[in-house]
Amino acid sequence: MRVGLLTSGGDAPGMNACIRAVTRACLYYGMEVIGFHQGYEGLLDDDYEIMKVSSVADIIHRGGTILQTARSARFQTTDGTLDGYEVLKKHGIEALVVIGGDGSLRGALQLYEMTRMPVFGLPGTIDNDLAYTDFTIGFDTAVNTALQAIGNIRDTSSSHGRTTIIEVMGRNCGDIALNAGLAGGAETILIPEKSFNLDDIVKKLQAGLARGKKHSIIIKAEGAGISTDELAAVLGEKLGSETKQVILGYIQRGGSPTARDRILASRTGVRCVELIREGASNAAIGIKGDTIVDYPLAVALAMEKDSHLEFQRICDILL
Ligand code: F6P
Repeated sequence: MRVGLLTSGGDAPGMNACIRAVTRACLYYGMEVIGFHQGYEGLLDDDYEIMKVSSVADIIHRGGTILQTARSARFQTTDGTLDGYEVLKKHGIEALVVIGGDGSLRGALQLYEMTRMPVFGLPGTIDNDLAYTDFTIGFDTAVNTALQAIGNIRDTSSSHGRTTIIEVMGRNCGDIALNAGLAGGAETILIPEKSFNLDDIVKKLQAGLARGKKHSIIIKAEGAGISTDELAAVLGEKLGSETKQVILGYIQRGGSPTARDRILASRTGVRCVELIREGASNAAIGIKGDTIVDYPLAVALAMEKDSHLEFQRICDILL
């Protein structure tokens, strides 16, 4: 049996560990793997390599993706999806494994619905915005990278007595902000899922200053509904002191994956190959509690994320 494999969308630490797991599990079970470069773009361009045991040697600890990745507008079109299917058929591929985030898994679902090609989604994104899994591959590393940065910024922020806004990634999801902010002891965390009142934030910061606090850290998710420039300007004016801003950006997407991400990538990757062997037609694989789970792709992608009520309550008490 021959399996296609690609990574798609924004890269995430742990994608390589997942490529390794899928490849090695396939080879273990006597299946062949064709790795397409640059996601669906490489599929459409028929740009590929045959994956061997040695192709995935020495990559478990490396950030990024050895297959490279891309966001493909072409594949999203009906013609593009059918063109991709032709390439898969040409190679005699009987199942396609996609490691990526929401958009990438939706591309896989579209391929399945249009052609019935068996497709399997592994959750590779730092955003943690897939509701069907507690954690996505790359999220833990991104949170720890952001936490490290918050610690460094805290040192200089406290030395200078400044208010600093740190913008983290996550698109429309506040999970990186909530987790890094809580662990990093931020004074305020702004996320897309919860509206906020600027006057309340100013009052809270002023109350901190009044009781002798020398500095403040605000963690703002990129999708939190106000630009970091604007927030810095408003706070600077209302607090009457300079407010600094740091946009962490792509630093959060790189780096060696944490143990947690490597293990999640390895467990979900192997389970994916077992599902293919069991004759499943399509699935999204993830983790709930400590159990590896799978759902039909359409079911997984229709799920809605919870509203972080517990996290928000803890932040309200502790920040
Ligand atoms: O989905 C991962 C992510 O890093 C988001 O957090 C961010 O909004 C987006 O990708 C950035 O995308 P690009 O790499 O296209 O700039």
